[in-house]
Amino acid sequence: MATTKKASAKTKSLEDLFLDGLKDLYYAEKKILKALPKMAKGADDGQVTAAFEKHRAETEAQVERLEEVFEILGAAARGKTCPAIDGILEEGSEILEEYEGSKSLDAGLVGAAQAVEHYEIARYGTLIAWATSLGKDDIVELLSATLEEEKATDKALTSLGEAGVNDRAAELKAA
Ligand SMILES: [Fe+2]
Repeated sequence: MATTKKASAKTKSLEDLFLDGLKDLYYAEKKILKALPKMAKGADDGQVTAAFEKHRAETEAQVERLEEVFEILGAAARGKTCPAIDGILEEGSEILEEYEGSKSLDAGLVGAAQAVEHYEIARYGTLIAWATSLGKDDIVELLSATLEEEKATDKALTSLGEAGVNDRAAELKAA
């Protein structure tokens, strides 16, 4: 019944919000872990493949950090379907399919991967702010380590695009 739902919603706290956000990210990281090898395999440029493979290894550690956070909270590590990351990854799959064999494939993949990173940067930023308000310094530290990796990955992808991937797609540089 709607009234019961409303009553229980009223008692929800910042801790509840935090745990929901954590589950969302846990689901997202696991999905990203599965998507990155496909993107690495699909990319033409060896540097793009290497960037995706490097981030796949980092993502494994990020999943483990989230599991540590669940443990600190005494909660079971469980994901919650995140339609946002499903949609972003679905768009990445579309690029892989629709641009296969195209000189623009890598530019598309780098852009798709940056959309993933930006989603994660937004979510980790929020969770760190909430953990700070909740006084959970150990959790802030764990999540900050991941946030720095996501930011570094985003920067590396920007550099790859600017270093030639985008110009090759625009036929300004030889492959
Ligand atoms: Fe991540």
